[in-house]
Amino acid sequence: MAVVSTERRIDKMIRLLVKNPTVLVPGPKIAAQIGVTRAAVGFWVKMLRELGVEIKGHVGSGYQLMKIPDILVPSLLQDELGETEIGRVIVHYFRINSTNTEALYLAQQGAKHGTVVVAEEQTQGRGRHGRIWYSEKSSGIYLSVILRPPFPPSAAPILTLMAGVAAREALSAVTGLDVDIRWPNDLLVKGKKVAGILTEMSAELGRLHAVVLGIGINVNHREMPAELKPLATSLRIESRKSWSRVQICVALLKEFTRYYHLLLENGSAAIADRWAAASSYANGKRVRVVTSAAECLATTVGLEPNGGLRVRYDDSREETLVAGEVTEVK
Ligand code: BTN
Repeated sequence: MAVVSTERRIDKMIRLLVKNPTVLVPGPKIAAQIGVTRAAVGFWVKMLRELGVEIKGHVGSGYQLMKIPDILVPSLLQDELGETEIGRVIVHYFRINSTNTEALYLAQQGAKHGTVVVAEEQTQGRGRHGRIWYSEKSSGIYLSVILRPPFPPSAAPILTLMAGVAAREALSAVTGLDVDIRWPNDLLVKGKKVAGILTEMSAELGRLHAVVLGIGINVNHREMPAELKPLATSLRIESRKSWSRVQICVALLKEFTRYYHLLLENGSAAIADRWAAASSYANGKRVRVVTSAAECLATTVGLEPNGGLRVRYDDSREETLVAGEVTEVK
């Protein structure tokens, strides 16, 4: 089955209903204004209802939105975003295999810097180290940003840290929760993961074509699957209230834009400083270091300007980690 992005016309229909909140908008009027058949309007209303959008009425009476829907369609996001560099183009899918896979494809096809790919549901969401990213329909945010930075491929890791700092800032500002960053860029609330970032790139020797920053945020999940419960949580579980994904997404894209410019203008040390100030993992944390070669206990002793994590192993050896994972040892 070919996966097609959400039609601009569905987006227009949502916009029309949002702009007429107190009235039943007749089906024929919707059809005429967006240039589709009445049958298409009926079909889209059914599809939106299946996604949890509350729409009153039927084909005879017309349709009315009962509240602003929390779906990540371009018209709802861009109204709030204004002129941000990241998010000027937003490609939305109701269902896709992975927004990162799609973003890499679109980047290869020439998609512009700052293009955002977002989906309500992923069927093959990918995490780091070949893991699966649990992507429950309409509960989380599954989003990938295409960047075309003027750096060599060796500088790409700092973009990953930049994304972590930006996402932490957005999540703390919107929810008021105490959000920590585990190196390199897992976002944690009370020690459990609420968001993860997967950075992928298309490059050739010495030249970066595009970087795709993919972020998954567990927002309104009522419960995590049993196997993830010890490690992962959602913003809703931790705060006991549900959140507007639109609001979080808008905050996230604004912070991405802000921190991307901080990086361009002040260099990677500025990002490393912000990261170190925001993360309990930067200094003095007892961790288990897992690399492809070994697993050892260590204490963190600082972050390098390029984003590498300095650790001191229990045998006093010191090393700067550029890849791998750390987990807290209590
Ligand atoms: C991690 O393992 O912590 C990284 C998770 C990244 C998940 C996001 S969801 C949007 C984007 N598309 C994917 O397939 N993965 C990333």
